[in-house]
Amino acid sequence: MEPEASWIDHCHDDIAKTGGNFDSFSEISDDSNKETAVISVDLILPDDLLERILSYLPVASIFRAGSVCKRWNEIVTSDRFLWHFSDMLSQKPWYFMFTGSDEPIGYACDPILRKWYSIEIPEIRSSNWFVSSSCGLICFMDNDSRSELYVCNPITKKWRQLEEPPGLKFADYSALAISVSRISRCYSVAIVKSKQVPGNFFQWDLSIHIYDSGTMIWAISLNEVLTGWRGGDESVICDGLLYFMIYSTGCGTQEDRHGLLTYDLSGRSSHGSLMKTFIPVPCPITCGRLMNLKEKLVMVGGIGKPDRHDIIKGIGIWVLKGRVWQEIARMPHKLFQGFGEFDDVFASRGTDDLIYIQSYGAPSLLVFDMNQKQWKWSPKCPVTKRFPLQLFTGFCFEPRLEIAP
Ligand SMILES: *[C@@H]1O[C@H](CO)[C@@H](O)[C@H](O)[C@H]1NC(C)=O
Repeated sequence: MEPEASWIDHCHDDIAKTGGNFDSFSEISDDSNKETAVISVDLILPDDLLERILSYLPVASIFRAGSVCKRWNEIVTSDRFLWHFSDMLSQKPWYFMFTGSDEPIGYACDPILRKWYSIEIPEIRSSNWFVSSSCGLICFMDNDSRSELYVCNPITKKWRQLEEPPGLKFADYSALAISVSRISRCYSVAIVKSKQVPGNFFQWDLSIHIYDSGTMIWAISLNEVLTGWRGGDESVICDGLLYFMIYSTGCGTQEDRHGLLTYDLSGRSSHGSLMKTFIPVPCPITCGRLMNLKEKLVMVGGIGKPDRHDIIKGIGIWVLKGRVWQEIARMPHKLFQGFGEFDDVFASRGTDDLIYIQSYGAPSLLVFDMNQKQWKWSPKCPVTKRFPLQLFTGFCFEPRLEIAP
């Protein structure tokens, strides 16, 4: 399938130029040589009604609507429209897939219109950067110095660079998470860094740093030495709690290769040891991906074979209730096989009520809808594998017009 021409570019272009390109609107005029109906409705509708109608459109169509005429453009770019629009629940999270192993380019999939758009994300310079998202904003950090950090709305392309995080510059592992408050529109960014204690194989220094967009400063929240465990690159913020995966450094049993720790962002319950918050994973997993679905912590995990825990035999989805994991779905075997060769580790991201799953080895993308408990393949991404070891990764985000970093 050919990708859509980048609709983002159209909105920066001279709006008059772009008329013929938009299928959703050209469809209307195609079958109406009786154009009177279309025009007169537009003429008699007062602005506030038109605004309401337009606010029901998917994000991509709103950009197109803005190119229809001056009046529509003024409506869809007004603050009032953007706020009104933000209340509409019709938007579903998109998945952005990097299409080059190095270049930071890619396509974003809109699951409602079932289309891929070529979109550019400002400032990001490699597909191996750390990316986290929340409520329309994405946060990304470079993977070399781990000190360049940006927050950006990938739809409007507004971005901001954050001050360099404090603490260890060269951590062995880092995990990045952002959380936007839907009420105040402030956000927190959390980084968990881990570094091996020199000369000691079992001990790891772990530090947590929190940035608050209200005060615009980083606070070192916690520093602790873990024994037999280390941090990794998997973390998420849900309902004011930072969750991150930890990994056994080899002295535990095979069952205990993964675990979960929690840190209260308000700092209230952070006295004492982080290890006291330890929650074991529900079964031996090959990898676990954490996500915030409507402020609930969800884990998508590769289920290990009974005799070889490091070999994947299927994929499960769990939600954390209190301190207990509850299984809510298991990928049907046919779909699991549909990926072709599936690695023991894979990529999975989710937000709102959608979970995206992809294998690093291929651009196929499977979606699980938490409400309908339904699995569905995304339309094929307009990218081809160019060499055998090419890796595919991505992240999901809510397409929002009104939120700015
Ligand atoms: C960061 O780079 C390391 C080393 O190349 C790689 O293993 C890791 O997957 C990268 N992290 C991300 C988030 O891509």
